[in-house]
Amino acid sequence: MSTQQYAISQYPDVEKVYAGLNKLVNQPLKPIKREKMQEFLGYFESHCQRSKDLTCQAQKFIPGGVQHNLAFNYPFPIAIDKAEDAHLWDADGNQYIDFLQAGGPTVLSSNYKPVRDKVIEMLQICGPVTGLFHEYELKLAQLVNRLMPNVEMFRMLGSGTESVMAAIRAARAFTGKKYVIKVGGAYHGWSDSMVYGLHVPGTGRFEAAGIPRGASGATEEFYPNSLGALKRHLVLNRLRGGTAAVIVEPVGPESGTRPVAFDFNQKVRALCDEFGALLIFDEVVTGFRLGMGGAQGYFGVKPDLTVFGKCISGGYPMAGGVGGRADVIMSFAAGIGGGSGERAYIGGTLSANPLSCVAGYTALLEMERTNAPVIAGQAGDRLTRGLQAIIDKYGLPYVTYNQGSIVHLETSAVMLLDFHNPLKLAKELKPRKHMIEEMGAAYMSQGLITLAGSRMYTSMADTDEVIDEALKRFDVVLSSVEGL
Ligand SMILES: Cc1ncc(COP(=O)(O)O)c(C=O)c1O
Repeated sequence: MSTQQYAISQYPDVEKVYAGLNKLVNQPLKPIKREKMQEFLGYFESHCQRSKDLTCQAQKFIPGGVQHNLAFNYPFPIAIDKAEDAHLWDADGNQYIDFLQAGGPTVLSSNYKPVRDKVIEMLQICGPVTGLFHEYELKLAQLVNRLMPNVEMFRMLGSGTESVMAAIRAARAFTGKKYVIKVGGAYHGWSDSMVYGLHVPGTGRFEAAGIPRGASGATEEFYPNSLGALKRHLVLNRLRGGTAAVIVEPVGPESGTRPVAFDFNQKVRALCDEFGALLIFDEVVTGFRLGMGGAQGYFGVKPDLTVFGKCISGGYPMAGGVGGRADVIMSFAAGIGGGSGERAYIGGTLSANPLSCVAGYTALLEMERTNAPVIAGQAGDRLTRGLQAIIDKYGLPYVTYNQGSIVHLETSAVMLLDFHNPLKLAKELKPRKHMIEEMGAAYMSQGLITLAGSRMYTSMADTDEVIDEALKRFDVVLSSVEGL
C-alpha cells in the first residue's frame, strides 16, 4: 500500500462473507411479509403519481420506459427532479437519501457546487466542445499521473464501456495475442466482447442477443477467485494464439459482490507475468472511490492498463478513459507523432471535451483536498455496522459487508447463483431477483435509494446524522421480514 489514504479501514473477512452468502443462497427466501409489502407498495400509488405518469408516457417512446441500467423499475420507475448533497427529490417532491450516487461516481456527493461552478464557467467561456485541444486535457492527464503513477499516459474517452474496448484493443495490438480473460459475473460494460459471463459466472454468451459468435469468440471467463482455472486458460491459450490480457474488477465482480481475497490481484499479476499477458484493472468504480490512488494503490499491484469511467469526470458526461504503460498506450497515438498506420484505432467526437476535462480535474482535486474517499468510506463503515446490528437484532440470515464506501446488503444472495448448479440457477434466479426488487422498493418507500436493492454507495455528504437516519429507515423494512 502507498502512503496515500484509502477508504477501506479494514479489508472484509472474505471467507466469513462467503460462509454467510453460501448459507443464505442455500436456504429458502426470507422476504418481507406479504401484508407489509402491500403497505410499502402503497407508497408508490399514494405518493408517486407524477413519476408514474411520466414513465408510463415514456414507455411509448423509449424502450422499457427508462434508459439507465441502474434505474429502479419496480413497481414503476421514479423520475428524479433534483439532486443535492446526500439527497434526491422525485418529480412528486418526495425526498430520498441517495445511496445510488449515480452508480458510484459522485464521491463528493450529488451535484457538488464547486465542480458545478467550474463547469458553468467553462460553458460560458468555451462551450462544451470545439473538437480541438484544450489545456484541461493536459491538466487532467497530469493529475491522473500524479495520483496513479502507473498511468504514465492517459487517453480520455466517452464511457467505461468504450474504455474497456480500447484497453482490449491496445492489449491485442501491443502483444499480438488473441484471447482476453475476464472473471465470470464481472461487468465491464456492454461491448460485443464483454457481454460474456455477465452478472452470473459461467453463463458465457447467455445475454449475447445481437452479438455474433465471432465477436466474443476470443473472450473467456473463470469463476471468481479460481486462480487454478485462470492458469488453465492461460496454458491452453498458449497453443492457440496466446492471451492478450486478463481484465479484473479489483475488488471482485460487480463491485465486490463476490469479493476477492486480498492477495488475488497480486496473484493474477504474477500469472500475467508468467504468460506474457497484460493485466487490465477496470477501475470504473474503484478509481478514486477507494482512494486517490485507486485500487492499484490500495492493493499495491501494478496493472499494465487501467480503465476509468464515471469518476474521471466527476459524474459529468463523457466519463471514460484508459491509461497505463506508455509503450502500450502509445498504440493509440493520434496527432503529434502518431498516425503511423499501426495504431489501434479509437476516437470519439466528444471525447476529452473541455466540459468533461474541467469537471474531472476539479472533482479529483476537490476529492483530494477534502479527503472525500476516506470520509465516504467512514460513512460506509458506519452504515455497515448499523446494518449488522439490525440483522443481529432480528436474527436475520442476511449478509452485510463493505469495501469502504461500497456497501453490500445481501438479502436474497441472487448474485451467488452460478452455472456450477444450472438447475438451481434456472429455478431460483427469478424469485431471488424478484426479492431484491421488493427489498429495493420497500427501501425506496422509506426514502432510501439503493442500487438494485442490495448495494449502497456512500459519499462525503453522508454525515453521521444522515447515516443514522438511514439506519432507522432500514430498520422499518428489515423488521417487516417474514417470521418475525
Ligand atoms: C466495473 C465497471 N466497468 C465498466 C462499466 C461500464 O461503464 P459505462 O457505464 O460508463 O459504460 C461499469 C458501469 O457500471 C462498471 O461498473
